[in-house]
Amino acid sequence: MSKEKEIGKAFDFKLFKRVFAYTKPYRGIFWLVAFVAIFLAAFAIFTPILVREIINTALPTSNIELLTLLVWIMVGALLGQVICQLTFNYYANLLGESVIKDLRVRLFNKMLGFKMTYFDKSSIGVLVTRAVADMQRIGEIFSQGFFVIVADILKMVAGALAMVLFNWKLALIVFAIMPVIIVATRLFQQAMKVAFIEVRAQVSNLNSFVQERLAGMKIVHLFNREEIEKEKFRVINEKHQNAWLKTVWYNSIFFPIAEMSYSIGIGLVVYFGVIQNIDNEMIGDTGSIFMFFFLMDLLFRPLRQIADKFNTLQMGMVAANRVFTILDTDSHILDNGTVVKEDVKGAIEFKNVRFGYVQDEEVLHNLSFQVAVGETVAIVGATGAGKSTIINLLNRFYEINSGQILIDGIDITDYTLRSLRSHIAIVLQDVFLFADTIANNISLKDKKVSLATIEAAAKEIGVHEFISRLPGGFEYNVKERGTMLSSGQRQLIAFLRAYVSNPSILILDEATSSIDTYSEQLIQQATAKITENRTSIIIAHRLATIKKADKIIVMDAGEIVEMGNHKELLAKGGYYRDLYEAQFMAEEVA
Ligand SMILES: Nc1ncnc2c1ncn2[C@@H]1O[C@H](COP(=O)(O)OP(=O)(O)OP(=O)(O)O)[C@@H](O)[C@H]1O
Ligand SMILES: [Mg+2]
Repeated sequence: MSKEKEIGKAFDFKLFKRVFAYTKPYRGIFWLVAFVAIFLAAFAIFTPILVREIINTALPTSNIELLTLLVWIMVGALLGQVICQLTFNYYANLLGESVIKDLRVRLFNKMLGFKMTYFDKSSIGVLVTRAVADMQRIGEIFSQGFFVIVADILKMVAGALAMVLFNWKLALIVFAIMPVIIVATRLFQQAMKVAFIEVRAQVSNLNSFVQERLAGMKIVHLFNREEIEKEKFRVINEKHQNAWLKTVWYNSIFFPIAEMSYSIGIGLVVYFGVIQNIDNEMIGDTGSIFMFFFLMDLLFRPLRQIADKFNTLQMGMVAANRVFTILDTDSHILDNGTVVKEDVKGAIEFKNVRFGYVQDEEVLHNLSFQVAVGETVAIVGATGAGKSTIINLLNRFYEINSGQILIDGIDITDYTLRSLRSHIAIVLQDVFLFADTIANNISLKDKKVSLATIEAAAKEIGVHEFISRLPGGFEYNVKERGTMLSSGQRQLIAFLRAYVSNPSILILDEATSSIDTYSEQLIQQATAKITENRTSIIIAHRLATIKKADKIIVMDAGEIVEMGNHKELLAKGGYYRDLYEAQFMAEEVA
């Protein structure tokens, strides 16, 4: 559904109630704001009435004492108004920020629990928007929407009432102008709505254009696209400017018109007010004329803005609806297991495992194999054969369709997720690093892992020297996604991360990208060290790794086609031999 259609929907009270339920822990603030809104309305009409009183009573009688008293009261009232306005603004915003703080934590916790299938299907950009921009909109329900509308309506009602009470004839004149302003406002808002749709479209165009060019700067430079991109950018930028100028244009028309009708109103009030006085109809009520100036402002100003505020409210509700949709999504991994094992030996068994990422598209067909305690198993096969999928299943990133996966003879679903994952360390094909120091990327902020432990571990697997040579050593900040490091270096850091966690089962998804001989050497050395004395599964792309394995599982199209060690499989002259000849012969000769 498009944003505009969503806004167009009728006001959803159920949703509104659900948003307001989040104010429950802040009931005190809620009522304070509501209460102050009433005071604001009272103060807003108090001053104009006081002005009327001064002109009508103190002026004709030349009563300086009364005048001084009334002026002091007015000063007091204005001070009260300032304090009320301040309290109102601060606490309405505080309420909004408090609500979204709670809501954001809830949303993030929810996201942390989602299973991988959820993230496969969702766009990261959209989820980021939910957690950041949409939250801000929800906050605006409180800071700029609901309470401001209530306060404005209260002021307008109070103002209208005061007008009728003190001079109903003049009040009627004012009310007669109101429709003009209402119609003008309405037309303006409709035009602005259309203009803003265009602005939003152009802003998002500009966003994605700049973002994509920045991310793909290498391609732009490589293919000499600079001139073409400059021209494209110029066009998009111009459209963006034109879209904004349209809104500026509407603003420039509307506000003078609104001001003009206000002035016409003042003119009419003065005219008829003076006529009333001349006609002796209400001698001595010059004060009302002045009072009306203030009250009219009280009435007309909110009138122009109230639709905007309703818009803010609606936008907040749309955002809330989107956030609640995520909160209501049930996409968690069942964590019903009860087994918590301190000590896992690391025997792995896949029994007739069938699995597909999406329904009706099986990726692994009836897979069965065993890995004995302490064994190193290499899995080889063509790209897309299902190798990485196997490790996705072992730590329960995804749930299998049928069959069983056992660790130490116990079904992995019988372990608690926490216990299961604490015994398995995985080095993924694409290493992900947080924008943080190397030390923090290895300990993952676990306080139990000291720098000394990390350094000792680094020495053991032979990467200490390479890390020490980086500027700042273990304190080197790798920046976003580890872009400050080469892919080989990133792998080595992931190795260290796995090694430090001292798992019973180690899984290594070797990177397919080629790396320099030096890093290659380091990786081989580190691999040998970290697979020592523990069950390891290596999804191997390098001959050296494969040859060292106790057992090789050869996969093709989601099935195991051969199993055995390097010599046996070569002798067999089957799929592995073909693979070896096609991929690794050259490597061995070289
Ligand atoms: N998250 C996913 N959602 C849907 N399908 C997926 C997903 N990940 C992998 N696949 C599909 O599953 C199949 C097996 O993929 P897998 O990543 O296990 O291959 P692989 O053997 O590790 O290949 P490579 O050697 O290139 O890493 C592929 O056909 C792939 O398209
Ligand atoms: Mg893979």
